[in-house]
Parts: sequence; structure tokens; C-alpha cells
Amino acid sequence: MFTFPAETRFYSRCLSDLAFPRASTVAELGSGDGTAVIAALRDHPDVTVSGIERDPVSAQAAKQAIASAGITGYHVACGDFMLHRPPGRMLVANPPYMPSCPDAPEDVAPMLAQCDGGPTGGEASIALLGLGYEDVMLLVAGHADPIAVLSAARGAGYEVAGWLARPFGFGALHPPVMNVLRGLANGPGILHRVVVCPGRSSVEARRPGW
Ligand SMILES: C[S@@+](CC[C@H](N)C(=O)[O-])C[C@H]1O[C@@H](n2cnc3c(N)ncnc32)[C@H](O)[C@@H]1O
Repeated sequence: MFTFPAETRFYSRCLSDLAFPRASTVAELGSGDGTAVIAALRDHPDVTVSGIERDPVSAQAAKQAIASAGITGYHVACGDFMLHRPPGRMLVANPPYMPSCPDAPEDVAPMLAQCDGGPTGGEASIALLGLGYEDVMLLVAGHADPIAVLSAARGAGYEVAGWLARPFGFGALHPPVMNVLRGLANGPGILHRVVVCPGRSSVEARRPGW
């Protein structure tokens, strides 16, 4: 089961601040244990979400969490989103974003397999952008060819309506990610922190050597 609480909290905040204010019917790829959507629905009780989660353990955990929270507008089924494609005006996901790593160490291999987003890590997101949902809210990983992901979004007719950014430190877990991050750090500069609040935003970029 995917467990990265800081990332799940960030996904939940993106749902609450960016996605749910813009759509009342939502399809979700990869519900995990369900906590992100459950928390965001507290601020948006009229939104209904159909989640599809491929990992049976996670799907079961999500169903239990939904029942415990007494939420009626969130349903999670176990399966492959690409086959089921639940209805909804908006597609949301914290999609798989790790570059494929067939020779991953045994202790992290199962988690990485769950998060395998294709050769660069961005291919799973690009596939989602081709499904034809009216609106899409995706977490886009900085190491997973975000330029290709955003280009695919533009090619599919989407425009950026809002965004949030947050740094995460998990490169050491996965050498291919570390290599991409090293390449970025050796480039002209790296986007370090972005703070967005109503009516105001600030961006701090740091040079290599941080
Ligand atoms: C990065 S995790 C995010 C989990 C959760 N949304 C969160 O943010 O805590 C990606 C999740 O997508 C699931 N997943 C990957 N590919 C899927 C697919 N084709 N259909 C359904 N679920 C999928 C994985 O099992 C995993 O739980």
C-alpha cells in the first residue's frame, strides 16, 4: 500500500483548493487508502467521487475508511482505472510517477511497482490526459518529465487553471530519480519553493549548491 503521508496531505489540499471547487462529479485514479479524498470532502460535501484503486489492500483500506467516516459521496472499487474509466466531469489523481526500475532493491520494489509511471515516470500521466475528461487535476512530479506532461495536456486541449507546488525529498530511495535531480541541480537553477495563497504568489529559485 502507498504510504507517503506528506504527499497524500498535499494531494488532499490540491483536491480541496483546486479540484473540488471546479467540479461536482469526479473520477479518481488510485485512491490509495482513501484518506486524501475523505479529508477534502469535509470542505466540499456536495462533491461525489468514484475512485478506482488497483491494489486490493489499498482499495479495502479505502472502503473501510469511507465507512468509518460515514461518507456517502465517495465510492472506491478495486480494478484498473484504464479499463473502468468511471464517469465524472473531472479526473483527479496522484498518479504513478516513478521511472520504471526493473532492478530495484527488494525492500522497495513492491512500492516502486505500484508507483511505476513508465520509462520517465510521466507516461502514466500522459495516458490519463488522453482519456477525454473535461477537466483534469494531476500531481505532476518534477523528476518525471513535467515538460512532456504539460505539452501532452496542451495537445489534448487543456489549459492550466490553477496550481500548487511543494518539494518532497525521496530521491535517495530510487537512483533514477536521484540522477534526474542531480541533472536539474547542475542546470541553470532549480525551482525550490513556491507558495501560493489567494491573490498572491511567491516563487523562490535557488542555484546549485543548496
Ligand atoms: C502515488 S499513489 C497515490 C495514492 C493516493 N492517491 C495518495 O495520494 O495517497 C498511486 C496509486 O495509484 C494506484 N494505481 C496505479 N495505477 C493504477 C491504475 N491503472 N488503476 C487504478 N489504480 C492505480 C496505485 O496502486 C497507488 O495506490
